[in-house]
Amino acid sequence: MTPVLTFFNNKGGVGKTSLVYHAAWMLSALDHTVLVVDLDPQANLTAAFLDEDTLADLWNDQASSSGRTIHQCVAPLTKVGDVGDPELQRPADGLYLLPGDLALSGFEDLLSTEWPNCLGSTNLYRAFRVITAFWQVVQKGAGQSGADIVLVDVGPSLGAINRSALIATDFVAVPLAADLFSRQGLRNLGPTLRRWRDDWKKRRGNWAEPDFDLPTGDMRPIGYLIQQHGVRLSRPVKAYDRWARQMPAEYSRSVLGEETPATALDPQADEHCIATVKHYRSLVPLAQDARKPIFSLSAGDGALGSHAVAARGAFHDFRALVENLLQRTHAASAAAERPRSAAPPAGPV
Ligand SMILES: Nc1ncnc2c1ncn2[C@@H]1O[C@H](COP(=O)(O)OP(=O)(O)OP(=O)(O)O)[C@@H](O)[C@H]1O
Ligand SMILES: [Mg+2]
Repeated sequence: MTPVLTFFNNKGGVGKTSLVYHAAWMLSALDHTVLVVDLDPQANLTAAFLDEDTLADLWNDQASSSGRTIHQCVAPLTKVGDVGDPELQRPADGLYLLPGDLALSGFEDLLSTEWPNCLGSTNLYRAFRVITAFWQVVQKGAGQSGADIVLVDVGPSLGAINRSALIATDFVAVPLAADLFSRQGLRNLGPTLRRWRDDWKKRRGNWAEPDFDLPTGDMRPIGYLIQQHGVRLSRPVKAYDRWARQMPAEYSRSVLGEETPATALDPQADEHCIATVKHYRSLVPLAQDARKPIFSLSAGDGALGSHAVAARGAFHDFRALVENLLQRTHAASAAAERPRSAAPPAGPV
């Protein structure tokens, strides 16, 4: 199975979509084959990759056999059909996209209905088929594209769509801003991940002999990424620091469930901090207009002088960020595979 990394936090607007977009481009620039999946019904990630005409065409496509968006792939389950084959977009060599769809929010009810049915004694096939539909589609897409990693973008909710998205997830990276909302987001996120993981384990245990492969639902947190910009750019640096310095301890306590103090007060020195993400200011609208990652902006896109220097700097920042992500996913996989006798004392995650 191809490893699935989801960027998730209960706080919205913290740069999840932007990070998935840039990490995906960077992975392909580093010769990885990557599949990006947009499981946020707001579909912002899809809109970052595809122009409006392409989007209008995808979303107009009502043919029941087409799998051009995630919703079209899972929609047959709302009737008597099964999970469909995805038809992927290919924004670049080695970079594949399974587009999102505003219609996906209509699938939430079925996910909620079938969740308790996974604990029942009849009709388990259908209940598990629905609950694992995202995972089935994602793995089909990964097989088709030959991806070595899948990146998933989700919205900030703790509802049934995201529960199924997380069941399809091996690794979770947590984007944060340095503010009160992100701290509260972490406080909700940690217990929710633990509950979803346990509830899924119970359900898997209820189906002794499954008729098809099921995901493990590890959803293992591999660290957080902190945005250097706040909600309001005018916010004084002191306010930023005050909240930023609470994040290492909050992440340890709420997400990892560790009682031991965090290794640092400063996120930059914290072992769980994957990266601090700069505010790229006027490069952001330039990149959105050019439909390119910030680090690929050229003079032709309007990135001249100091903009060109900043774009080159962004390339180094995102390369380091992606290398760090990969290192953490490899380390987490290795730790999970280590025989129990050789494993360090079990952590609470
Ligand atoms: N590093 C950055 N520098 C400047 N602006 C950024 C940066 N990252 C994200 N933004 C901007 O911040 C806004 C929110 O970012 P984004 O959409 O990625 O957040 P999100 O967490 O996916 O939001 P949602 O929870 O609504 O899905 C967007 O307008 C985006 O362009
Ligand atoms: Mg988003």
